[in-house]
Amino acid sequence: MKKILILNGPNLNLLGQRETSVYGDRSFDEFFNELVDRYPDVDLHYAQSNSEGALIDKLHEVGFSFDGVILNAGAYTHTSIAIADAIAAINCPVIEVHISNVHQRESFRHHSFISKNCKGVILGFGLDSYRLALESLQ
Ligand code: DQA
Repeated sequence: MKKILILNGPNLNLLGQRETSVYGDRSFDEFFNELVDRYPDVDLHYAQSNSEGALIDKLHEVGFSFDGVILNAGAYTHTSIAIADAIAAINCPVIEVHISNVHQRESFRHHSFISKNCKGVILGFGLDSYRLALESLQ
């Protein structure tokens, strides 16, 4: 059974309440439970942090034993060389995901420091971006 971690970064704990016109009105917990039911053959884990260091610690923790990480680094995507380095440092593939199509938004969201070190990038499909990433790791 593949072990996959979904790791959400800053402000994504507010999904369902936060800027619902951009990110939708579903909470991540509700969506995650649905994913668990839909993919019974995957050992699916979930973590979220608003802190850059805690996200890096989590990548280190799972990066040598899990089969993949689905990472929405939130705004750290556009700022964090440290998270990019953590992705490069670990063994397991990391898929970068975004709920919104960042390329249709402000120009500061167009650059990702982490894409280069990720296996692939899925964005713009709402919460379904996470499911598509999970499919890609099967
Ligand atoms: C996001 C896009 C980022 O630019 C933003 O800072 C987020 C969410 C997304 O999922 O669309 O927090 O990663």
